[in-house]
Amino acid sequence: MRVSIGADHAGFEQKEQLKEHLEAEGFGVIDRGPDTDARVDYPDFAALVAEDVASGEAEFGVLVCGTGIGMAVAANKVHGIRAVNIVREDFAVLSREHNDANIVTVSGRFVSPEENIRIVDAFLSTPFGEGRHAGRVAKIMALEE
Ligand code: RB5
Repeated sequence: MRVSIGADHAGFEQKEQLKEHLEAEGFGVIDRGPDTDARVDYPDFAALVAEDVASGEAEFGVLVCGTGIGMAVAANKVHGIRAVNIVREDFAVLSREHNDANIVTVSGRFVSPEENIRIVDAFLSTPFGEGRHAGRVAKIMALEE
């Protein structure tokens, strides 16, 4: 499974840790940067990862900024994206089961690397629940039209 990952300066360090973790788990990781912790604008990296997911280049995306909030807001502007800002593991599971989220955004400043690894692992390993959730997600996507 291919995962596209990106960050800003506030998320750079945890992006590197998450990338190493995902590669060790056997995921194909597309690293959309940045390559250093120099100051950048998070929407630029949200767009790169969101385009990977929207085009099918990657099945899922992971984005890290200070809070994860700006990344989610930006990524959700791209058609086909359902990005969720997650700070606890059980919500990562529910965002996949109920919302078929395809990008998880996490906080590099307020959530520990260990917790974010648990969040990303839960997100990537939980299938969409289908059934009653399918029609609701279809209605979300119809809002793009
Ligand atoms: C950068 O200072 C910060 O605004 C950014 O990382 C993020 O938290 C935005 O939502």
